[in-house]
Amino acid sequence: MNFDDRLVTSEVMESDREQYSLRPRTLEEYIGQDKVKQNISVFIEAALRRNEALDHVLLFGPPGLGKTTLANIIANELHVNMRVTSGPAIMRQGDLAAILSTLSEGEVLFIDEIHRLPKAVEEILYSAMEDYQLDIVIGKGPGAQNVRLPLPRFTLIGATTRLGSLAAPLRDRFGVQCRLEFYQPEQLRIIVNKSAEKLAVQITPEGALEIARRSRGTPRVANRLLKRVRDFAQVLGQNAIDQKLADQALSRLEVDRYGLDQNDRRILNTIVKNYEGGPVGVDTIAAAVSEEAGTIEDVVEPYLMQLGLLQRTPRGRVATKETYRYLGIPCPDENDTGQTREGKKHDVL
Ligand SMILES: Nc1ncnc2c1ncn2[C@@H]1O[C@H](COP(=O)(O)OP(=O)(O)OP(=O)(O)O)[C@@H](O)[C@H]1O
Ligand SMILES: [Mg+2]
Repeated sequence: MNFDDRLVTSEVMESDREQYSLRPRTLEEYIGQDKVKQNISVFIEAALRRNEALDHVLLFGPPGLGKTTLANIIANELHVNMRVTSGPAIMRQGDLAAILSTLSEGEVLFIDEIHRLPKAVEEILYSAMEDYQLDIVIGKGPGAQNVRLPLPRFTLIGATTRLGSLAAPLRDRFGVQCRLEFYQPEQLRIIVNKSAEKLAVQITPEGALEIARRSRGTPRVANRLLKRVRDFAQVLGQNAIDQKLADQALSRLEVDRYGLDQNDRRILNTIVKNYEGGPVGVDTIAAAVSEEAGTIEDVVEPYLMQLGLLQRTPRGRVATKETYRYLGIPCPDENDTGQTREGKKHDVL
């Protein structure tokens, strides 16, 4: 079993590429994230009225929740162009300087995975963000000169799945900081419905809700599951996707009713069976299931924690009562009130 091609991963897969057409283009079409949306629409409106650039925006949250989509929407609503780059793509100060110096007034610069910017590059971003000045050193050795170039007023939108890896001085320079949350099944149902419309697939409300429930709170996963269920409908010659078909198809694809697959179960089983429920370090888990610790932390764990199936503690990962219940294994201290097994209650389980 491979983590890279699992159907329920929230990371981008090759087959998601055509999803770009499924991307909402306006704030109104962007479903859910109501608090974020309300705030951003106020800031956009104010910036437009004052005819100024929007303050820098930091978007953070697990993969597939709509950070890139929201960045595009912000630029669109501001009626400005968006330049796109990413942390790992900018290797030297000069790379960033070249981008910054060619921005126009009011333009949006989107830096994806901003936590992966090299330190030296990050440093020139500070004065660029704060004072709209580019401080660079030209030349080498004793003849080197500090040059200060004025920049147009631009808006930086940074996206990251790891807020904790972002240096505090960089984080503090974002006037607007938004955390994207997992979506509720009802919100995902609407997204599934809209995507079905765009893909010209018929789906009943119950069918859409079934897919929504099994999508790990993540629109990217919802759109992907919809497409796979559509394949089943086609092959079975069924016109519309209903709840029964969605359930059959997703069960065949081994996505259970919480949206978990074998990889999730292997991780949970490792903690429960090999390490007596934990605490166990993420590196140990990673070695046991042959996956990178970073992927487990960023992609797999956030949703398991949301379901209350896993806790992160300073000493490592810990199973909860819900984990035992989910795996159908009796919980060793079901009757005691010990802290470690007290998982966060969640209404799904
Ligand atoms: N609020 C939303 N409403 C409707 N569709 C959405 C919404 N958010 C995301 N999507 C859909 O989910 C897909 C994934 O979103 P997006 O690429 O913006 O995620 P991301 O947070 O940037 O992920 P990553 O961290 O991997 O870069 C998009 O192609 C879009 O179709
Ligand atoms: Mg993205």
